[in-house]
Amino acid sequence: VIVVVPEGAAEFAAPSGWEVVSVAASGALPDACGDARAVVLGPPLGPSRAAELLGAVPPDVFVQATSAGVEWLLPIVRPGMTVANASGVHDGPVSEWCVAVILAMERKLPAFFDLQRSGRWDADVNDVTARAVSPLAPIDDLEGKRVLVLGHGSIGRALSARLEPFGVSVTGVTSRGPFALAELAAHVAAYDVVVVLLPLTPATRGVVSAEVLRAMRPGALLVNAGRGAHVDHDALLGALHGGHVRAALDVTDPEPLPPGHPLWSAPGVLVTPHVAGSSVRWRARAYALAARQLARLARGAPPVNVVAGP
Ligand SMILES: NC(=O)c1ccc[n+]([C@@H]2O[C@H](COP(=O)([O-])OP(=O)(O)OC[C@H]3O[C@@H](n4cnc5c(N)ncnc54)[C@H](OP(=O)(O)O)[C@@H]3O)[C@@H](O)[C@H]2O)c1
Repeated sequence: VIVVVPEGAAEFAAPSGWEVVSVAASGALPDACGDARAVVLGPPLGPSRAAELLGAVPPDVFVQATSAGVEWLLPIVRPGMTVANASGVHDGPVSEWCVAVILAMERKLPAFFDLQRSGRWDADVNDVTARAVSPLAPIDDLEGKRVLVLGHGSIGRALSARLEPFGVSVTGVTSRGPFALAELAAHVAAYDVVVVLLPLTPATRGVVSAEVLRAMRPGALLVNAGRGAHVDHDALLGALHGGHVRAALDVTDPEPLPPGHPLWSAPGVLVTPHVAGSSVRWRARAYALAARQLARLARGAPPVNVVAGP
């Protein structure tokens, strides 16, 4: 039984009885792809190489993604293929990134780092000893803050578990409520921090609209670790420049964010280049999931995390 994996998947240990065929990012595909039972997709295979590979394997293969978001994959799978995402693999790293940026933005660490680099000791943020108002004041802590997590799935629940010890009150939104995303503008003002951890679908695209940004509490923090297209970036730029909201973005629209893009220099925003899930151990976790899925197939059990199928 053949499984096709990306070249360099050194951590992948196939269950016994499976033959592993590696595919590089370019060049001719191995003939053995035509007999594959399963395909594991991940770096260095980009979407166009994945599409080429899916065109060369049998139409009923099992496809395991190493990403949790599969909006890039669903349009290129063929009817008859069973597709599973890597939900669960990225819970720790992505939820940890969210906690890191919430703490960093609430405690204004990026601004303090700027002060450090210019050798300035601005103790006036301390309201007990201040002799003038610091541009960094006021600084608040997390206890008692209200956090809204849009998309309370695998990563969202991991985030709640990590935030609750800070004394934060977390409200998670799923398709079962407590309110529909279409009603977000009517609810968002109740929260200090809004975190996006949704899959990108027609129903979630643009969910953080100009109307939602206007309705956010002044000074509130938007955290996006979902996908860039969840947020109206033109409206966000306006809200950042107006000092209405702050933001921490791991995902942007477009990606990569090109040199000179206005988000790079906008006030009150922390940008990271889609690395929230990129701890060194994510690949090992993704390939361990893939191996468990193949073991399930081998014993006739249904795979988990199925997002599309015949
Ligand atoms: N930045 C990164 O590096 C990185 C890494 C991994 C993942 N991600 C992003 O994070 C997303 C979430 O991953 P996950 O593993 O947590 O996925 P998940 O377990 O499938 O959770 C998704 C959550 O979104 C909710 N949801 C989906 N559509 C909705 C709608 N229309 N209205 C309200 N709620 C809706 C789901 O609710 P129901 O269960 O009720 O449908 C579920 O709670 C991924 O799709 C991806 O976009 C980013």
